[in-house]
Amino acid sequence: MKDTSIYDCNVIPLNKIHNRSGNITIVEGQTNVPFDVKRVYYLYDIPSGAVRGGHAHKKLYQLIIAASGSFNILLDDRNNKKIVTLNKPDVGLLVVPGIWRELIEFSSGSICLVLASEIYIEEDYIRDFNIFKSYKNGY
Ligand code: TYD
Repeated sequence: MKDTSIYDCNVIPLNKIHNRSGNITIVEGQTNVPFDVKRVYYLYDIPSGAVRGGHAHKKLYQLIIAASGSFNILLDDRNNKKIVTLNKPDVGLLVVPGIWRELIEFSSGSICLVLASEIYIEEDYIRDFNIFKSYKNGY
């Protein structure tokens, strides 16, 4: 989607069921996130200083969660930018299609859990920022 904005990318508080032996957070498609979850992946063993992402998607919705540790997500829709810090397993960031994102400043041992609305399709990626700029301009 070309006309989305970073203000469509919201931090979503998730539930947390707490007891003495630990916590559990449940995410259900169409309940906590506005899509059906078709794919789950996670980033781990991320070296210090690494930058992940560096792309946008045409159709994919994602909920990004810091399952462990913390990291920052830079969002850019060509009109505005914002940085969101994720550092709690009971909070997710909804990233809508048409947003350039970079994941930066991972803490040691952090785990980035991603729930996605589609299976992996390379054609859904825009990996070149100049192409992203043209895409947002309607080309
Ligand atoms: P990529 O999405 O570029 O990673 P990130 O945005 O986190 O930096 O994916 C890295 C590699 O993994 C790339 O070769 C594509 C592959 N990949 C899959 O095969 N399936 C998937 O679901 C994902 C997310 C990546």
